[in-house]
Amino acid sequence: MKKWTVATFQAAKGQTRLGCCTAYDACFARLADQAGVPCILVGDSMGMTMLGYETTLPVKMEETLSATAAVARVVKEALVVSDMPFGSYQCGDDAAVANAVACLKVGADAIKLEGGARVCGLIRRLTEAGIPVLAHVGMMPQSVNAYGGFKTQGKTREGADRVIEDARAVEAAGAFAVTLECVPDDLAAHITAALRIPTIGIGAGPVCDAQWLVMHDLLGLNDGHVPSFVRQYAHLAEEARRAFAAYVAEVAAGTFPPARA
Ligand code: KIV
Repeated sequence: MKKWTVATFQAAKGQTRLGCCTAYDACFARLADQAGVPCILVGDSMGMTMLGYETTLPVKMEETLSATAAVARVVKEALVVSDMPFGSYQCGDDAAVANAVACLKVGADAIKLEGGARVCGLIRRLTEAGIPVLAHVGMMPQSVNAYGGFKTQGKTREGADRVIEDARAVEAAGAFAVTLECVPDDLAAHITAALRIPTIGIGAGPVCDAQWLVMHDLLGLNDGHVPSFVRQYAHLAEEARRAFAAYVAEVAAGTFPPARA
């Protein structure tokens, strides 16, 4: 298999549904890449999965760059997308372009940012500068304070129209794909049919062109709250705890390490 590009990712629309996920370090990115995950997002969800925060808001640009560099260093085939953290593109378009350039300099193939119509000017500038943009509409976790919690969007007629308008606007501005997060299944299906670019759903039902899962949810590394739309394909938290406990017990019992001749 060859390296995924923005063009091959787009060409898959209507042909194959793509299972994509996040990764934040070289170890798991290598495994996901070797397993054939076509697109790896260095998500700002790292704030919650890796850094112990309650939201994605505290993630810093340096943390995104460091994680993106680690992932990009080992990935051979997947498209690597760097997720612009809160504050890195709300600070004026010149600074936003510089931050996106920094993501590509450390190895990202594209960047992702949240927002619909309100970020279209920036999407245009980035794409004109040769920086592929993956948009993100519907529930935008960086707006958690504005929503008053992580809440499904587009449930009312007015809300659904806003999500549709945002999705059409980011496509027109040049985004190569759009994430639809936590919107009703029928709304995601409507948008997927209406757009030329691929939709990548998370909590948006089965009809999107691709899906995201946060790696910690997919692997069962997270045994706190698990969103209802998640499927855990492994239970690595249990397995890791078992291994740690066995190691501690064997050291205490004197059975590890074994005596050497
Ligand atoms: O940061 C992230 O993991 C994301 C996905 C939920 C799409 O933005």
